[in-house]
Amino acid sequence: MSSPALRALTTVTNVSLTDTGIIAELGGGVRPELLRVDAIRDDVVRLKISRGGVFDESPSYAVRDDLEQEEVDVDVEIGAERVTVSTPAVTVSVTTEPFGIDVHRADGTVVVETAPDGDGGRAGYATLNDAFAFARRSSPGGAVYGLGEKTGPHNRKGKDYNLWNVDVLNPTSSGEFTRGRDAADPRADPMSTDFDPYYMSIPFVIEQDPATGHAFGSFVDNGYSGHYDFRNGDRTAVRFEGGQYTEYIFAGPDIPGIIEAYTWLTGRTALPPLWSLGYHQCRWHGYEQSDVLELAQGFREREIPCDTLWLDIEYMDGYRVFTWNSELFPDVPGMLSSLEDDGFRMITIVDPGVKAEPGYGVFDDAVERGVLCLTEGGDIYIGQVWPGDTAFPDLVTEEGRRWWGALNAEHVRSGIAGIWNDMNEPATGVISPLGMRFGRGEFSHERYHNQYALLMAMGTTQGLLEAMPDRRTFVLSRAGSAGIQRYAANWMGDNVANWDHLRLSIAMANGLGMSGQAFVGADIGGFAGDSGAELFARWMQYGALTPFCRNHSMIYQRPQYPWSFGPAVERIAREALQLRYRLLPYIYSAFVAASETGAPVQRPLAFSYQYDAIVESVEDQYLFGADLLVAPIVEAGAVTRSVYLPEGGWYDWHTDEYLSGGRHIAALAPLDRIPLYARAGAVVPMLGEAPASTRGLAPREVELHLFVPEAGAPDVVSTLHEDDGESFAASDGAVVRTRVTVSRDGDTVRVSAVSDGDGFDGFARERFILVVHGADPSGVVGAEANGERIVLECGADGFEVSVTV
Ligand code: GLC
Repeated sequence: MSSPALRALTTVTNVSLTDTGIIAELGGGVRPELLRVDAIRDDVVRLKISRGGVFDESPSYAVRDDLEQEEVDVDVEIGAERVTVSTPAVTVSVTTEPFGIDVHRADGTVVVETAPDGDGGRAGYATLNDAFAFARRSSPGGAVYGLGEKTGPHNRKGKDYNLWNVDVLNPTSSGEFTRGRDAADPRADPMSTDFDPYYMSIPFVIEQDPATGHAFGSFVDNGYSGHYDFRNGDRTAVRFEGGQYTEYIFAGPDIPGIIEAYTWLTGRTALPPLWSLGYHQCRWHGYEQSDVLELAQGFREREIPCDTLWLDIEYMDGYRVFTWNSELFPDVPGMLSSLEDDGFRMITIVDPGVKAEPGYGVFDDAVERGVLCLTEGGDIYIGQVWPGDTAFPDLVTEEGRRWWGALNAEHVRSGIAGIWNDMNEPATGVISPLGMRFGRGEFSHERYHNQYALLMAMGTTQGLLEAMPDRRTFVLSRAGSAGIQRYAANWMGDNVANWDHLRLSIAMANGLGMSGQAFVGADIGGFAGDSGAELFARWMQYGALTPFCRNHSMIYQRPQYPWSFGPAVERIAREALQLRYRLLPYIYSAFVAASETGAPVQRPLAFSYQYDAIVESVEDQYLFGADLLVAPIVEAGAVTRSVYLPEGGWYDWHTDEYLSGGRHIAALAPLDRIPLYARAGAVVPMLGEAPASTRGLAPREVELHLFVPEAGAPDVVSTLHEDDGESFAASDGAVVRTRVTVSRDGDTVRVSAVSDGDGFDGFARERFILVVHGADPSGVVGAEANGERIVLECGADGFEVSVTV
């Protein structure tokens, strides 16, 4: 049955001024509503429509609660047919009858325009029984990015998407979206690479005009079930099943600026502790304490770098959260301290499903405090997670979050490095989640379903920070919604050990990066199903160059440790991880940039080259940080692939061959080589050797790999950020930040570095080693050269050197 048409609001009357825009009455519907238009930054406007004549002012959780209204110079003109609200950057035009909203940039170019509704009206806003919808003009052939964790192509144009967090491999959860689909429809199969929806819902999109390449952003701050429809080329239709219409429009036209503005609003990826950028070894497996210690030994003996070992649900006593199975783990403190001695940390899983069992302390305490989700009738809501009947923390209340945060803090204090949150869609097994209400029973499930994981990560992070205020937190979450990047990293849930899922994970991570979440990664090797030698080797090579680097697999699958597929694959895995560890100064600096500007760490080419129409369809490549281009092998048996190099110059990482951009090349990729390129002009900071882990890492030397720019190329600035990697002291200046500018004049390449910051405890770097790629440096002025390695004894100061090439 198709859903009945919503009733449009068609007229605008009684317009009055506010400090930041206008408020007006919207008529023509079942009853009048109020419209607010607010300029909150020169390039960001907010549109709101009341429900029942009242605006919902409760916290949105997606938007930062410390956001300060910027001073905006707002100019309002009220005419009979049109009311305009202008900032120096944009003009919002509200047509009074029929009601519609158009936004243009100051130069007259279109940001958004309300679509016609087919009956001579405009699809500005329609509503019926809590649902609301609107539609915008679009252009056939344009590109749409964003919407967070989605399957299928990273350009969303041509498809439709649901926003409802789903435990993908659980038929009760995904069934709503598979039911009634033809067996030939890939969305009938939750394991397909087109299944929708997934674990996360982020109602943020970036839409690009095919004629100009200009882009705008739209964020609907609403956690209810939603639907975005891009199937009709000239119209984008958006519908939510409840809540208030609150939309932010980001004028663009450049994608990095749109993401900067969106993450200014919803927060940036929190700067992670350095260790969390190392390699993570996880496996759902019935480990005993001795197995864990043996595993740790295995890494060190084989000289494969690793920072963190993870324990999945089997470590608990009967799957009761915040307990240990003491038969399997007789001496947890002893195990943790021995791991620490070897430079390892441990992370354990924490699901929200609290075993509903009188006598189990966590459950009893929660019942007594009234911090569990209730049903409409006031019963404690029961779902089914690993321990059977489970209750769920009511994370919509401050008390619930504090209680949950304190439990997590206690767990971390016992020697655990971070928290792994799973099943937080929330997943409720064979029982429908809809009976679960929030806020002591006050709010429907639908209102906060998509925000449950966000609230869980928020409560966890706040609890950890309260207990350990000087220590950066690490939380990994499966589900999420807009704003989750402030509190947690996300992995992409239960993937399958096959090539399609390897390939899918590239576009998925790119989509998350374009949606404000920079700290992402898929289960390396594949979660469900047995991985194979070639697939595993290719996945490790690629996974080592993704923001979050964790190998994970399902219980009873064949082991997929780096050494599980024989010596040749072990060598490939070692090399891949050693490269990651050598690149840590570069990767860390990319995370600093993400935390300051929202720039994703794993970026689709469209982020940096939006005016190049070719990149729209480049699905299986990405930039890792600003200067490395990664083109993973995504097919069995392939030893060569086509790679698109965008404009500018590039260097083959493996051979140092210079390649001009703006074209496709054929890359050679024998099994031990992933196609990888460095941008000409860039300086990539690296460690000379890969450490076994990041513990105690305090390098005396950092290599600066200079990729010589071609003559006539513009200057390139690269930034290295060094700090203690674990506290918040960097935000008070305890950092060394080095900006390296590379410029070329004829045969002379000048490299000048300016360092600032106060330095920090543990800073040990005495020198940089400038390593020149693409030329044999001669005529070095300003330093001592030793072949292609130029030694710069500069500590925390800058340097200036020039090289004849
Ligand atoms: C879920 C998680 C997976 C985990 C398993 C057992 O399927 O997505 O990562 O291993 O539960 O906890």
